[in-house]
Amino acid sequence: MSDPIDLAAFPRDFAWGTATSAYQIEGAVAEDGRKPSIWDTFSHTPGKVDNGDHGDRACDHYHRWPEDIALMRALGTDTYRMSVAWPRIVPDGDGPVNTAGLDFYDRVVDGLLDAGITPSVTLYHWDLPQALQDRGGWTVRDTAEHLAAYASVVADRLGDRVTHWATLNEPLCSGWIGHLEGRMAPGLTDLTAAVRASYHLLLAHGLATAAVRAAAPGARIGLVTNHSTVEPASSRPEDIAAAVRMDGHTNRWWLDPVHGRGFPADMRELYGVELPERPGDLGTIAAPLDWHGLNYYFPATVADDPHGPVPHAREVRLPGVPRTGMDWQIDAGGIEALLMRLTDDYGVRRLYVTENGSAFPDTVGPDGAVDDPERTRYLEEHLAACARAIRKGAPLAGYYAWSLLDNFEWAYGYDKRFGLVHVDYATQTRTIKASGHRYADIIRAHRLATAG
Ligand code: FCB
Repeated sequence: MSDPIDLAAFPRDFAWGTATSAYQIEGAVAEDGRKPSIWDTFSHTPGKVDNGDHGDRACDHYHRWPEDIALMRALGTDTYRMSVAWPRIVPDGDGPVNTAGLDFYDRVVDGLLDAGITPSVTLYHWDLPQALQDRGGWTVRDTAEHLAAYASVVADRLGDRVTHWATLNEPLCSGWIGHLEGRMAPGLTDLTAAVRASYHLLLAHGLATAAVRAAAPGARIGLVTNHSTVEPASSRPEDIAAAVRMDGHTNRWWLDPVHGRGFPADMRELYGVELPERPGDLGTIAAPLDWHGLNYYFPATVADDPHGPVPHAREVRLPGVPRTGMDWQIDAGGIEALLMRLTDDYGVRRLYVTENGSAFPDTVGPDGAVDDPERTRYLEEHLAACARAIRKGAPLAGYYAWSLLDNFEWAYGYDKRFGLVHVDYATQTRTIKASGHRYADIIRAHRLATAG
């Protein structure tokens, strides 16, 4: 049977990877000088995370990273996207640097390189030091400056070996879900705070880009944003307008300023919040990048919702479509469309899929195997869609499956399993799932298809 994925479409040097983030896997939250982040606070606040779960132990990656690198080797991946925990490096957010925190990432980076795996380091994957939150967090400008100072410390220490850097992961989630919807740390529901946070996050991205370039000449820097395709629920003009607003909220608000177009005027008007702009900021935010990272999980269908929260667009649940264990609609066409939009509309010249994956309720069978056909199908369909985008001209250079391991899925806790590798949290036993084996086969087959 021929492979459903057009493997020959992927360039020969295509980077196959897996991704994780610090708070979701590391544990060891009070070790070697780390201090709390907003996610420690949030997860220990009753009612915020399903089952009262938190990241205190998570996958114990802080102690088990050599085993986890061995798993990457077993999968045959070329690259690994990881994040550095700001509260390990500068535990108070600004001020003294904690060398023991840097030492940890130093060891992991060396371990990866020894294993022939290229690290791609994200500087901020949502774990803001709590000390900075206590001083206003992302609603204040200083936080952006502090992120850049921390970025410079990390790049200075790791930049001789790490060339791939991302400033932020999914500022939409920090900004909108953390400050407007309240479902993520710091858990606010305040439009003014959210708009200010979104601005300072993007400013932090620009400032950190400059800081990393200064500390590590030769660094290849990108930003990781998450997007959804947005469709109106009907052909009613009201629903079409709602889709335009949702697209502005989810996609254009983040992409336009980073790609030099400024903040979209229709959304500024809709939010009605004055941006904390200073001269020169837009140029900082639009700093030239070496690549853009797309995180894609699901599409959105929306209807007008004049009395609902901003952007006054309500997500409509389509009947009879396949969904993951997160209840997210499965639509591989979305990844293809977004890759083409980044290529054609935004002129991105180097793209990575920095996250893509699915959660399903896996169980370990009596034979010790984890059979996860739905996750395998999700992976195959999305890779097939990536191949189509490449054929149409998308400059896609790599794909990172989310995630290497089952891990702490934020407000959903440990019940939602995204890993290609199953984690038994009681024993910390790792088992490569069938989807992980399939990913390894795909990587091998691609190498064979493009060898010679
Ligand atoms: C993304 C996050 C990542 C993970 C996946 C499922 O929004 O970046 O940490 O939780 O979703």
